[in-house]
Amino acid sequence: MTKQEEIQKLKQEKDAIILAHYYVQAEIQKIADYIGDSYFLSKKAIALPHRVIVFCGVSFMGESAKLLNPSKTVLMPNAQADCPMAHMVDQAAVQKAREQYEDLAVVCYINSTAEIKSWSNVSVTSANAVSIVRNLPNKNILFIPDKNLAQYTAKNVPDKNILFLDGFCPIHEHMCAQEIQKLRAQHPTAEVLAHPECNQEVLEYADYIGSTSGILSYAEKSSEMEFIIATESGVEYALQQARPDAAFYFPETEPICSGMKQITLENIIEVLKTGKNEVLLQDNAINKAARQTLERMLELAPS
Ligand code: 13P
Ligand code: SF4
Repeated sequence: MTKQEEIQKLKQEKDAIILAHYYVQAEIQKIADYIGDSYFLSKKAIALPHRVIVFCGVSFMGESAKLLNPSKTVLMPNAQADCPMAHMVDQAAVQKAREQYEDLAVVCYINSTAEIKSWSNVSVTSANAVSIVRNLPNKNILFIPDKNLAQYTAKNVPDKNILFLDGFCPIHEHMCAQEIQKLRAQHPTAEVLAHPECNQEVLEYADYIGSTSGILSYAEKSSEMEFIIATESGVEYALQQARPDAAFYFPETEPICSGMKQITLENIIEVLKTGKNEVLLQDNAINKAARQTLERMLELAPS
């Protein structure tokens, strides 16, 4: 029996479903029941009838799926797969901003721990940050942890006072604008599609800025034949599926999220067999507040 066949068999035995982010290895995306960006996956997790969710992504994704589905078993194939940005907020800075602005709304990117969500009013993903922030009644917003998504949101919602701290995704923050410029010179007709987690210099080159799903649907609908992609390179698999006729170029320093790439087929087999790495959350005030922050996102996000 191949590993893929073993996973199919175990899935049926355990009433399990496999969700995967676009940044995991292609062989994992191939066996997943659903592949998506953070927003799609968090919505999908609530809609599924299965008893067990195997979440092929980083820790905050499994934690969010469990917060939204407390009665389900959520298994993380690799307990080490984490997102460094999800921890880049200091509570004292949030408290200071709350003291400074009476009407402050703390908006946290879903790439954050449950504890950070518990300090926040609403969660967002890169797919819905602009529209959620635009529709908040508050003038003053503290956007955490991602300074780049915060600045992108601020540009698109100029009537709000958007404050931010210094969190970032190392993969998107350290992407080199000169490498994008070089690709542009080599492929002058190619369009640059960038994730808003990219640093501001890279975003200056973008013809389109959007979440991972946004980048995919842009490429899918476009009549162009060449694209320069400024996001994590795992998305190449889905891009090639969507546009087998097009060419996709990534920066020379390949943007790779080591957390996402740690997940293997063997990990999936192991957790399905043993129930190892189950996300267990206490029924405490922090997790209740974090759940409300996520539920508010689902209420406010455009459908
Ligand atoms: P999206 O899934 O919202 O595109 O975000 C990318 C990301 O970095 C996920 O960790
Ligand atoms: Fe976190 Fe960046 Fe990896 Fe996304 S790509 S999980 S933001 S480290």
